[in-house]
Amino acid sequence: MSLLPVDTSQTGVVKKIVVLASGSGSNFQSIIESVQSGRIKANVAGLVAGKPGIGAIEHAEKAGIPFTILDASTTEELSSQLHKAFNRWQPNLIVLAGFLRKIPDDVVKAWEGTIINIHPSLLPKYGGKGFYGIHVHKAVLEAGETESGCSVHYVNEKYDDGDIIRQTTVPVHPGETPDTLAKRILAEEHKLLPAVISELLNRQS
Ligand code: GRF
Repeated sequence: MSLLPVDTSQTGVVKKIVVLASGSGSNFQSIIESVQSGRIKANVAGLVAGKPGIGAIEHAEKAGIPFTILDASTTEELSSQLHKAFNRWQPNLIVLAGFLRKIPDDVVKAWEGTIINIHPSLLPKYGGKGFYGIHVHKAVLEAGETESGCSVHYVNEKYDDGDIIRQTTVPVHPGETPDTLAKRILAEEHKLLPAVISELLNRQS
């Protein structure tokens, strides 16, 4: 099913989301489905893929969403490619959904207050450099935490450091492994991220 533009205001202006992803793109897919069901009243203008061959690109292709694949080995190249994509698609909201590279400072400045990220822990705990993927959940279990969860936050110049917008708490079960915890948290991410996107876009009008 392709994404038809949704008129979200009386002025006829369609809000636009751009998603950045480096992996399987299950959060990206949850955004696509929320747009298709009308829960998010906006258009996914484009996907910035961190590398070729990732699941997120397949989701974009299936939904008819334009995408660009980064080919940047330096911060300068990354910055220039992101500026180019954002200038082309003019997003109202930029969503990092499993994007593994740090957003260059000049890009953060140019799009301040517009970039959000989802992280699989209760930030500020278990965030920052090295805390990604399964490493997050391993650290949570090794520390003997009784709860974890996911956070959506604004992106600033540091990893996982911007203001927290909303979080969902997930209890740690007895006998939990990093994989079982990751799975239950991911299911919550798929609800939290579209809900926050919808809220932020409504606030902008
Ligand atoms: C999610 O756990 C997200 O919180 C983190 O990266 C993972 C991406 O998963 N930033 P997916 O590619 O959306 O399935």
